[in-house]
Amino acid sequence: MAAAPVAAKEFKIAVGDGAGGTQEALGKAFIAALEEESNGAHTATLFLNGQLGSEQDTVNDAAIGLLDFSILAINNVTPFSPSVGTLTLPYIILSLEDAVKLTQGPVGQELVENTIRDSGVRIIGWAYSGFRVLTNSKKPVTEVADLQDLVIRVPKNEIMIATYQAWGVNPTPMAWSETFAGLQTKVVDGQDNPYITVYAMKFDEVQKYITNLRYLFSIEPLIVSESVFQSLSEEDQNAILAAGQKATDFSEQYLREQEARIKEELVSRGMEISDPANDEQEFIDLATTAVWPKFYDSIGGIEKLNAALAEIGRDPVSE
Ligand code: MLT
Repeated sequence: MAAAPVAAKEFKIAVGDGAGGTQEALGKAFIAALEEESNGAHTATLFLNGQLGSEQDTVNDAAIGLLDFSILAINNVTPFSPSVGTLTLPYIILSLEDAVKLTQGPVGQELVENTIRDSGVRIIGWAYSGFRVLTNSKKPVTEVADLQDLVIRVPKNEIMIATYQAWGVNPTPMAWSETFAGLQTKVVDGQDNPYITVYAMKFDEVQKYITNLRYLFSIEPLIVSESVFQSLSEEDQNAILAAGQKATDFSEQYLREQEARIKEELVSRGMEISDPANDEQEFIDLATTAVWPKFYDSIGGIEKLNAALAEIGRDPVSE
């Protein structure tokens, strides 16, 4: 007897960033892999530039089954799933290799399970987007002192707010979907995001200076609504999981191939890049000593941080 035909599905994927970024690259790779894994039965469409709502709103929408998938920065998942904050503590992830280990090893697996439990969405893939560099429209920034008279936009993320506070400034929390307008109208002077995101969002049109900060390596999960996922057959679930893994592998490659080119492109469009003074030591010292201990409880205890540090070969910390 012939197998019953699979009901074809066209899923919707919300994407926070514009075209040309790591989120879109992950999304396109996921769609191609999903079509392949489901033998052409299923596909999906990307809705770029926050068309389906701000990144944080898409988590709520997916949780209640109003939205199938979303690709967004990890810092916009943390408010719903605090243990994911392990990956947004400043200066935890020091390289792409660290990011890959932490997301794809046992620590990442536990965070995936916690996120299903805490926020009703399942992480099925990861985009690796690079370090969040600081941009602003006013002046070169190389020292903590240079930040003091700048108004900096941050996501609504407690850890990132605390990091800027540790550097002596009170940042302005603002949804991602409002950030371009905020920079353009000069409600805020600056923000931080990876090179490829700065490019995809055309921030070079409203920002001039870049500081090569490395406090946060941006990882951007592809999430699926857990209720949508559970409504699918095991075969479809497996196709989605396999497609997510293929897209994740592609994303790692994409960052390696594109980041340097995009950095040059931003310079050719008139942006000026500076390195932080003294290998960033002042930024590092202030952020790690003040911020890490504040969040031990919300990430599930200091032992969770130490498990992450161990996974990337770093020494544990003590209370
Ligand atoms: C944010 O700054 O809110 C996000 O990291 C932006 C993004 O998703 O690229």
